[in-house]
Amino acid sequence: MRSFRDFMESALYDPERGYYSIREKAADFYTAPELHAAFGAVLADRLALLLERTAKTEPERRLHLVEAGCGDGTLACQVARRLREKHPGLAARVSFILIERGRKDLTTAVRRLNAFGVNVTAYTEIAKVAPFSGVLYSNELLDALPVHLLEGREGKVLEVFIDGADRAVCGPLSRPELAAHAAAMTGSLQEGERHAVGLEAKAWLKDASSRVEEGFIVSIDYGKRFAPGTANPPRAFHRHAVETELTREPGAQDLTASVDFEALIGSGEAAGLSLESYESQSKFLIEGGLLSWIEAAAGDDSASYRERAKLKTLIHPEGMGEVFKVLIQRKAK
Ligand SMILES: C[S@@+](CC[C@H](N)C(=O)[O-])C[C@H]1O[C@@H](n2cnc3c(N)ncnc32)[C@H](O)[C@@H]1O
Repeated sequence: MRSFRDFMESALYDPERGYYSIREKAADFYTAPELHAAFGAVLADRLALLLERTAKTEPERRLHLVEAGCGDGTLACQVARRLREKHPGLAARVSFILIERGRKDLTTAVRRLNAFGVNVTAYTEIAKVAPFSGVLYSNELLDALPVHLLEGREGKVLEVFIDGADRAVCGPLSRPELAAHAAAMTGSLQEGERHAVGLEAKAWLKDASSRVEEGFIVSIDYGKRFAPGTANPPRAFHRHAVETELTREPGAQDLTASVDFEALIGSGEAAGLSLESYESQSKFLIEGGLLSWIEAAAGDDSASYRERAKLKTLIHPEGMGEVFKVLIQRKAK
């Protein structure tokens, strides 16, 4: 028997059968940069501002731009292109680092950036990156980290484990750090109701903070600032639909949980990160000029309609606009 966290780890990342080893791009979900390159361009403009602020406090040091969980490099290419086109002075000063645990994706990402004339250093985990000054950003990384799962049972809060036949069973907590989370959910979780605890997201942020000497961490993901006692049930996605059965066909469906930004802001503060901003993706993109991309896609032909629809999905409340959030945290010496 293994914890749900260990089941999720292997369902997503088993080198042969894990979801991310065999994922067919956009088959079950698409990410914002997979939807439209405007996402990466608007993000790049904000990254440029953050890099310039970092450069003011660290004028002598080389700046780094680090993408964590870069997948096949789609977003990194969009960011690099925009920096080169709109911020060439900065582009010349910045060294790119990519972090991706999937070796195949990482190789593809490096090849794509090299083909674009950008040199990168690549790592499979953040712990291997030497401390740097600059900006570390990620899109949909934190929601892809395995979570521990709690469940309400007869007035108590237990942990979910998966047995040899992929059936969920409840048992005592596997980690002492879960005790505070279980206590906080006691009395709130109904019978059979589940709640994901993102210990790994908090640990990742602590590692990330220890790598950034001066600069910013930008985390884009779906989630919210969960109020105490609010349940956060994980979900499975298959062919763009939510599946209720989390253990059905491990590796064939995406498993994910909303990011608890309240917890990340709190653990960030404990790790030396101050809150710079927290806003919806919609506000972030509109303030960064996304509407001008929609205007530029004017036209009556079907290609223009399709392009406008994609751009609007990035900011529409029922698309990605409100469920996705942008958290910026600052690290200062
Ligand atoms: C949902 S995909 C997002 C890919 C890309 N950022 C995008 O927006 O299209 C999540 C990616 O994070 C990677 N990942 C998960 N855990 C990681 C970790 N601890 N370090 C680096 N990459 C990780 C996965 O392998 C996967 O490629």
